[in-house]
Amino acid sequence: MASATGIPQTDPTTIVEQESAPLLGRPGDATQRQGESIARNLISASSVQLLASSGLLLQIQAALILQPTTTPQQKLRGTRVHYSIQLVSIICFLAAFTVIEVNKGDHPHFASPHGILGLLTVIFIVLQALVGVVQFFLSATVLGSVENGKRIYKYHRWTGYILLLLESTTVVAATRTSYNLAVIGIPTWAVFIALLVTLSGIGARVKPHKLGL
Ligand code: HEM
Repeated sequence: MASATGIPQTDPTTIVEQESAPLLGRPGDATQRQGESIARNLISASSVQLLASSGLLLQIQAALILQPTTTPQQKLRGTRVHYSIQLVSIICFLAAFTVIEVNKGDHPHFASPHGILGLLTVIFIVLQALVGVVQFFLSATVLGSVENGKRIYKYHRWTGYILLLLESTTVVAATRTSYNLAVIGIPTWAVFIALLVTLSGIGARVKPHKLGL
């Protein structure tokens, strides 16, 4: 059909939902339906990958900002930036999780390795953040003293890095989902190498004494 913009129009009301259609749509499928809020464009179709990728990128930045800090002032400032970035990151992860769960509807949930790892990742992200909040903001009330809070930092760092490994595994597993294999076709090896390079960069900046080594 001709259109004022020259772009062929697809009447959204005539789009027939097919059982076999990929859950997140095919490339270019994202279409705002008539009467639908523009805000929905942020969460429709494959926006979920962008949200989860942003969450992971932010989590990496939040670790990078703290790693080189040594003086108490640097650490305090670093921690403030760290938890602010982590807050946005968690919002991205929770939004991504909500979007995929809502989009899934009646389809089976947590059926693939990626789905199961994704659920575990989200649970551990929330737990990791809770420990971060308790050790830094609530140490005196919950743990008895600020010193007790500081004793936990080492474990929070360890679990933070283990969480990054879990998140990376979840991303690699995403390349084996039927959606990626059938629709976008991102090669597993490419994602694996990209993550290996990223994690090596983060690993090279770790200060062993901060992990108690
Ligand atoms: C899922 C969310 C989070 C992840 C994945 C995470 C991860 C990490 C990692 C990897 C480190 C070690 C950085 C280094 O080697 O220096 C770290 C340190 C730390 N994080 Fe988090 N974190 C999270 C949330 C939070 C939150 C919400 C707080 C609240 C204040 C927090 C407070 C801290 C503190 C106090 C340190 C140690 C700072 C220092 O070295 O003095 N974290 N975190």
